[in-house]
Amino acid sequence: MKVLFLFFVYFISGLLADDSSVTCNETQKCPESMPCCSQYGICGIGSYCLGSCDPRYSYNLSACLPSPICKNTQTLFSSVDQLTKIDKFYGDATKADWVYDGTVLEYDNSVILAMPKNSGGTVISSARYLWYGSVEVKLKTSHLAGVVTAFIFFSDVQDEIDYENVGVDLYKFQTNYYYKGILDYHHSANVSFNDNSFENYHTLKIDWTQEYVQWLVNGQVGRTLYKNSTWNETLQTYAFPQTPARVQISLWPAGSSSAAGTRDWAGGAIDWNAPDIANPGYYYAFIQEATITCYDPPSGVTINGNNSYVYKGVNGNETDVEISDAGTFLKSFSNTGFDPLNSSTGNNTNSNNTLPSGISSGNNGGPIGVSGSDSTSTSITYTKAGFQQYATSVLTKTAQGIAVKATSISIMSLFTCLGACFTSLIITKLIS
Ligand SMILES: *[C@@H]1O[C@H](CO)[C@@H](O)[C@H](O)[C@H]1NC(C)=O
Ligand SMILES: *[C@@H]1O[C@H](CO)[C@@H](O)[C@H](O)[C@H]1NC(C)=O
Ligand SMILES: *[C@@H]1O[C@H](CO)[C@@H](O)[C@H](O)[C@H]1NC(C)=O
Ligand SMILES: *[C@@H]1O[C@H](CO)[C@@H](O)[C@H](O)[C@H]1NC(C)=O
Ligand SMILES: *[C@@H]1O[C@H](CO)[C@@H](O)[C@H](O)[C@H]1NC(C)=O
Ligand SMILES: *[C@@H]1O[C@H](CO)[C@@H](O)[C@H](O)[C@H]1NC(C)=O
Ligand SMILES: *[C@@H]1O[C@H](CO)[C@@H](O)[C@H](O)[C@H]1NC(C)=O
Ligand SMILES: *[C@@H]1O[C@H](CO)[C@@H](O)[C@H](O)[C@H]1NC(C)=O
Ligand SMILES: *[C@@H]1O[C@H](CO)[C@@H](O)[C@H](O)[C@H]1NC(C)=O
Ligand SMILES: *[C@@H]1O[C@H](CO)[C@@H](O)[C@H](O)[C@H]1NC(C)=O
Repeated sequence: MKVLFLFFVYFISGLLADDSSVTCNETQKCPESMPCCSQYGICGIGSYCLGSCDPRYSYNLSACLPSPICKNTQTLFSSVDQLTKIDKFYGDATKADWVYDGTVLEYDNSVILAMPKNSGGTVISSARYLWYGSVEVKLKTSHLAGVVTAFIFFSDVQDEIDYENVGVDLYKFQTNYYYKGILDYHHSANVSFNDNSFENYHTLKIDWTQEYVQWLVNGQVGRTLYKNSTWNETLQTYAFPQTPARVQISLWPAGSSSAAGTRDWAGGAIDWNAPDIANPGYYYAFIQEATITCYDPPSGVTINGNNSYVYKGVNGNETDVEISDAGTFLKSFSNTGFDPLNSSTGNNTNSNNTLPSGISSGNNGGPIGVSGSDSTSTSITYTKAGFQQYATSVLTKTAQGIAVKATSISIMSLFTCLGACFTSLIITKLIS
């Protein structure tokens, strides 16, 4: 998944790298005026201060919002109404269990994560974090070269636990983990099974405790990683994922990465003229169910409430995190963690304060360009500052080849690109 991370660093930096973007990294923290460091190393306010805001490189420890605390939940994905679009999510996890970016559709008691032609795919993220716990997800992967379906845990300091399916091999998940985003490619291991993951649902489980991580497929243990096996002599620490993390499930085009290594890993370049792109009009994965079970936080952790996880140190270790009553949401996208509920800043919907599609939720990206080539479009068009919205009536076919009528609203927004480039957010909702 670090491959994915690098892909989007490139992908997003293409979108954002104008003279005015302010970057952040281990040697350069964000300035006070744009105090929040996104996972892609760009400073900002608003959405930048929510999920995956990195406390290590932000202006100070108040910049990022605390993360919503774990809650046991079971979601049967029967409707896209269960998912909140990322640009409507202000951090209040009492109002949303799942947040998405990209294109979601509902079909037959499941939700489709779609990846239309030339898009960046789709990611759904849990609104809440878990600090040890288990998550079980029932899904069908996509398929074909360059197409990756992933289910991961991802923390604000980039601890990560992964399952990834590469669409050229439908009998296997690659598992991996990372500690504080350090790129160490030697930790991957494969979990194989006998039936095709594109045609059949598989139940993937990550069981994450203070002592071990276990990856289970259909109830069978595929891999166990013990913390005591992750001792790193150079770092003098256990390089084990140990900070509160969100759940992310995604479909993304590794095969359109500019990095040859990523394309090779993904089985080659993605084919944007593949049969799926003609019918139903997108690559797709299905998610049917997700169950989150929270475990106790680490022994010895400071507990000053029951609402959120908050970093009290910038090392990114487990011992930097406390449990608090502090709020997790912003009143508007003009705010930051300094004064999250100040309403006199107004309800600024300036797109500069909202992460472009794909940047704010985990490693994945939203669609770039327009939706499937076979969509018939344009009914209503209206423009706001920097935005054009199209309400589109699309006759499309579902993955199973059944024609359904869909209403799709595309927001074409002009971001600050070096060249002329624009991003299209496509919100699609089936209406029958
Ligand atoms: C967005 O940011 C760009 C680059 O910094 C700036 O030129 C533009 O005025 C900003 N847009 C708004 C609406 O603030
Ligand atoms: C951090 O960012 C600055 C400014 O973009 C850059 O000069 C520096 O090399 C970066 N440091 C690291 C460690 O990447
Ligand atoms: C962080 O900076 C803001 C703005 O200057 C300030 O209000 C806040 O108290 C600072 N927080 C910490 C923990 O230093
Ligand atoms: C996992 O399987 C892929 C092929 O699907 C292979 O390229 C890779 O080397 C395998 N990884 C390990 C750790 O065996
Ligand atoms: C690591 O921990 C596991 C379970 O706690 C234990 O079974 C195993 O023997 C330990 N291994 C080492 C090298 O200490
Ligand atoms: C230990 O961490 C260093 C620095 O991140 C890394 O280069 C090295 O590969 C790690 N060693 C092991 C055995 O994982
Ligand atoms: C959470 O903490 C508040 C006070 O901080 C308390 O009133 C409430 O009962 C607690 N809720 C739970 C579920 O423990
Ligand atoms: C916490 O992180 C720092 C910096 O990464 C490291 O030097 C230190 O040893 C860590 N402490 C523990 C208890 O792991
Ligand atoms: C809220 O924001 C406004 C505008 O930035 C500022 O003038 C005001 O002092 C803030 N209010 C509080 C209570 O900090
Ligand atoms: C801004 O708009 C959102 C969504 O419409 C709303 O939830 C939020 O309360 C508004 N904030 C303010 C300051 O009006």
